[in-house]
Amino acid sequence: MKLVLLGGAGFRTPAMYEAVHDVRDLLGIDELVLYDVDDARLPRVLRVLEGIDRERGSRVNVRATADLDDALEGADVVYSAIRVGGIASRIIDETVPLAHGVLGQETTGPGGIAFALRTIPVMRMIAERTAARAPRAWFMNFTNPAGMITEAIAEVLGDRAFGICDTPRGMFRRIAAALGRPPESLWFDYAGLNHLGYIQAVLDGGDDLLPGLLADDALLATLEEGDIFDRDFLRSLGMIPNEYLAYYYGTADVVARQLAAGRTRGQEIAETQAGYFAAEPATPEAALQAWRETTRARSSTYMAEAGAVRVDGSRAGAGVDDLEGYAGVALRAALALRSGEPTVMVLNARNRSALPFLPADAIVETVCVVTGAGVRTVATAPLSLHARGLIEQMKEVERTTIAAALQGSAALAARALALHPLVPSVAVADRILDAYRAQEPNLRALLA
Ligand code: G6P
Ligand code: MN
Repeated sequence: MKLVLLGGAGFRTPAMYEAVHDVRDLLGIDELVLYDVDDARLPRVLRVLEGIDRERGSRVNVRATADLDDALEGADVVYSAIRVGGIASRIIDETVPLAHGVLGQETTGPGGIAFALRTIPVMRMIAERTAARAPRAWFMNFTNPAGMITEAIAEVLGDRAFGICDTPRGMFRRIAAALGRPPESLWFDYAGLNHLGYIQAVLDGGDDLLPGLLADDALLATLEEGDIFDRDFLRSLGMIPNEYLAYYYGTADVVARQLAAGRTRGQEIAETQAGYFAAEPATPEAALQAWRETTRARSSTYMAEAGAVRVDGSRAGAGVDDLEGYAGVALRAALALRSGEPTVMVLNARNRSALPFLPADAIVETVCVVTGAGVRTVATAPLSLHARGLIEQMKEVERTTIAAALQGSAALAARALALHPLVPSVAVADRILDAYRAQEPNLRALLA
């Protein structure tokens, strides 16, 4: 099997590489190709991979290329983790709205729209090249905003494309741990869009364990969601929202924290990673050690702006020793596709009839079954009018953003921003769009 990693020089590539080590025999991976346009970071990444090889006493057949067609040719699985514009553009995505008192976040709010606008044209080109060079490949998209990007590429790749996020699985693991149960022994009724989903039930046979969990303050206190969200509010909702809903339910508090911090999440990461990439570790072992320390530091402050407190610095995705995190979700899906063994996972896939109030071809993030035939959504309990309303509103924003990106339309981009529930007025939406065009070169070219 040929596995291709788009954005292979990225900081998180070693996490994927460790997971590849774990499953390469099961998957029959005989070639791993790292594709990237940024070759400056590549030697450093390869050195960390060498550290992993030494630690494990074996090697994966890996090579790097900057030629997209060479990377894609005959691929069986393509995993995309590219970031168009790099961290510099992430910082613009976040700082522009914040300067207008609006949430500064890379996937939620105006930042997600800007991120999607510049990324969609590139991902469409990649999807077309994949269709030509590797028509049988499964395309796993981790490139954010994962829901919108997956919807834009599914128009080209159909059901061979699906999207990945680690947050639902992380949430299930925390809840299972709070209940003292293995996650696989419970059914999590989860539905929504990427970074906008809800757990409506935690089923154990005929029983729903969620009301008991919500009623128990001590148990709730063990969950990150119990810190991020007001616990009485959770009880009144009767659901546990994805952690990204903190940006909707706590908007004013998050914006206040962001303004007080004096730097956005992107700026924080840029600072720590500049030091990481500038250092030249003497040995592959030292390179691996530095990567692990930087990963741990990054994880320990994740979602701090939303009120998350991490006592042990842990976060799904930090290490992949038991196939967790983004890489774990991706490779679990690849294993199910390869073996045909039905596996239940939350992925971003075409709705069909799972969320009956949305179009059948809309990408939703919900419970799916993965078999050798691909990824299919599963219906869950009906969502409340509140959750449904927010999801519908955001799907309209997403589709308007996709149309704006494909048509290069400033008018549609303005409309997407104005319709976003976190943007307070049409005038503010216009000002944010003007600032994005002034500051971000890809957006300036796209929306000329
Ligand atoms: C979670 C989300 C990803 C997102 C990441 C951001 O894992 O599921 O979609 O990219 O957080 O983390 P960062 O450390 O870059 O702020
Ligand atoms: Mn995600």
